[in-house]
Amino acid sequence: MRTHRELMEKSNVRNCRNYFWFVIFASSVFWLFFFYFHSSDIIKGMNRFTSSTNEYAYSVVSREPNSLLLKENSIEASTRLSLIDNGVQPVNRLPVTEKEAEPFNETIFAENENELGNSPSVTEKGIESDNEIPIMENREDACSGRYIYVHNIPNQFNYDMLKNCSSLSEWTDMCRFVSNSGLGPPLVNSKRVFSGTGWFRTNQFALEVIFHNRMKQYRCLTNNSSMASAIYVPFYAGLDVGRYLWGFNTSMRDSASLELAKWLGARHEWKVMAGRDHFLVAGRISWDFRRLTDDNSDWGNKFMLSPEAKNMSVLVIESSPWSSNDFAIPYPTYFHPSRDCEVFQWQNRMRRQKRPLLFSFAGAPRPSLNRSIRGQIIDQCQASGRKCKLLKCDTDENKCHNPYSVMKMFQSSVFCLQPPGDSYTRRSAFDSILAGCIPVFFHPGSAYVQYIWHLPQNYTKYSVFVPEEGIRKGKVSIKKLLLRISKEEVKAMREEVISLIPRIIYADPSSRLEILEDAFDLAVQGVIEKVNSVRREIRERGNYSVGYAEENSWKYNLFGTEGEHEWDPFFSVPKDSNS
Ligand SMILES: *[C@@H]1O[C@H](CO)[C@@H](O)[C@H](O)[C@H]1NC(C)=O
Ligand SMILES: *[C@@H]1O[C@H](CO)[C@@H](O)[C@H](O)[C@H]1NC(C)=O
Ligand SMILES: *[C@@H]1O[C@H](CO)[C@@H](O)[C@H](O)[C@H]1NC(C)=O
Ligand SMILES: *[C@@H]1O[C@H](CO)[C@@H](O)[C@H](O)[C@H]1NC(C)=O
Ligand SMILES: *[C@@H]1O[C@H](CO)[C@@H](O)[C@H](O)[C@H]1NC(C)=O
Ligand SMILES: *[C@@H]1O[C@H](CO)[C@@H](O)[C@H](O)[C@H]1NC(C)=O
Ligand SMILES: *[C@@H]1O[C@H](CO)[C@@H](O)[C@H](O)[C@H]1NC(C)=O
Ligand SMILES: *[C@@H]1O[C@H](CO)[C@@H](O)[C@H](O)[C@H]1NC(C)=O
Ligand SMILES: *[C@@H]1O[C@H](CO)[C@@H](O)[C@H](O)[C@H]1NC(C)=O
Repeated sequence: MRTHRELMEKSNVRNCRNYFWFVIFASSVFWLFFFYFHSSDIIKGMNRFTSSTNEYAYSVVSREPNSLLLKENSIEASTRLSLIDNGVQPVNRLPVTEKEAEPFNETIFAENENELGNSPSVTEKGIESDNEIPIMENREDACSGRYIYVHNIPNQFNYDMLKNCSSLSEWTDMCRFVSNSGLGPPLVNSKRVFSGTGWFRTNQFALEVIFHNRMKQYRCLTNNSSMASAIYVPFYAGLDVGRYLWGFNTSMRDSASLELAKWLGARHEWKVMAGRDHFLVAGRISWDFRRLTDDNSDWGNKFMLSPEAKNMSVLVIESSPWSSNDFAIPYPTYFHPSRDCEVFQWQNRMRRQKRPLLFSFAGAPRPSLNRSIRGQIIDQCQASGRKCKLLKCDTDENKCHNPYSVMKMFQSSVFCLQPPGDSYTRRSAFDSILAGCIPVFFHPGSAYVQYIWHLPQNYTKYSVFVPEEGIRKGKVSIKKLLLRISKEEVKAMREEVISLIPRIIYADPSSRLEILEDAFDLAVQGVIEKVNSVRREIRERGNYSVGYAEENSWKYNLFGTEGEHEWDPFFSVPKDSNS
């Protein structure tokens, strides 16, 4: 399986048609050998038979590509990464013009520094209905163990928000961004930076809409919730809170999400596992849903702290390292292919790409966060001459949020710097992987402890880690450090980064990939595995409890232990309590 796939990736496929014929050819050769070695009698017999026998043989051959190319099920128990510039939303009312630099007016949002207060460790009590929980497996059925039931929630929690899209944001025209199933307007005519098809001006906060539309295409949907391995709640939690983040009181911010939580808790589907089999996708960072007090000056709503959300799995673009009910999945990028071959072609192009820049950075300084290292990063880049390129988001706003300029710069760079901003993670990390640029992280919360379903556990394979303290104290020269990495190591890392591309993109919801598993597939698989482990525990012990101190979630999820770790200092203090 794997070798077949590598073979296809390596073959310099120019277009989808070539790729298709390659598969036909390869599988024909395979079948010829198969028949020759295993059934020489059949072959002899067939030679004597009429054309109808040959037709049979041909039909076997033409069916074979599908069975050979079944999706890989064995995913390495590994994964991790992520990116986006939080708190900065693009504002653009102009149609896309395909100039080198498209005009793009950005309004910098208020900073969302939230106190990441450590919540007390939670040990959970039992679920009443113990032995009733069935095992979701049946050998006869290809979907067995993978069924998803989509909860039929009132329209006010999803479709009505899309209908009323002009009220979703005061600054951004979200109607453009929720169009095209959440992919946003197509990016056209920029083949020198993008490829012919599959590119969209996707907003970083549109994931819940994309995910919902992908779910409608999922192969193993069921109408019968008792057959489902997991229950998907298509609530647009991020769009909901996004409407009220600035200038609204806490009751406005909480209202819809707490109503939804109450609604869910009262349904018969909930009672089976007290909601432990429910999940939803919220396309914003976890801190937007974890308000600790009812003080109006506090940030966000308190949806994730509600008793119902605490029992669910909430997938977000950045999770809280200290909480067990949220899981990070990749930010959406601009690439949403409809066919596997579009991905293979893109990977091949990124392998061949010339990369004159040693490193680059797109972002703004954070003068108000006095522990931020962005100022030092920018200074080091500027002092590195032609080895580093900068897209400054405070002064070059239009370029900095323009997909064309950002992707072009990343495609020309060997390394892309991904320091934390208002929060740990950035969309930019995923844009850089998509561009085949090796990400450089400064905090383990920026990717390694986040995207455990999508990125390899061994982070040195695909990224460079430079602990931020060295930068803060001015002890580390990024340029020198990167120049010391050997050419062979760079090549191996880049190949790993490029091999991650399928795992961090969300395919176009209007079609689906045949061979590759994308970020959506891996997320669904992660949820199902998580729910199954809860189910197993309830069956075996009659009871479910989280089983570790909740503030150790980051460690437990990544390493399976709570013992001391060298990264403890990174997670011992709230990220920025204005210090
Ligand atoms: C950007 O948009 C804002 C809000 O519409 C407007 O006030 C501002 O003048 C615009 N800036 C530029 C450079 O066009
Ligand atoms: C459920 O868990 C609680 C606390 O962990 C324990 O006290 C109780 O005995 C368990 N109930 C059953 C039925 O195992
Ligand atoms: C649409 O949004 C406006 C402004 O927030 C609000 O007054 C109105 O009730 C909303 N309409 C619907 C159908 O939700
Ligand atoms: C689910 O039910 C609806 C209507 O009740 C029906 O149209 C649909 O085909 C069913 N889907 C499945 C997968 O059973
Ligand atoms: C739903 O599935 C369960 C378990 O497989 C089965 O017992 C039940 O009859 C099904 N319900 C419907 C309406 O098909
Ligand atoms: C919150 O704001 C809404 C409208 O903006 C208002 O109707 C409501 O009374 C306010 N609630 C509180 C508790 O102040
Ligand atoms: C959450 O799950 C626990 C069992 O782990 C259960 O006792 C509790 O009632 C559940 N909460 C809700 C709101 O269903
Ligand atoms: C992680 O990957 C690097 C580079 O491929 C390798 O040298 C190292 O041995 C790996 N570490 C572990 C624990 O697998
Ligand atoms: C950062 O903030 C802390 C507390 O507010 C203050 O004591 C310290 O001097 C500040 N450091 C810098 C470099 O501004």
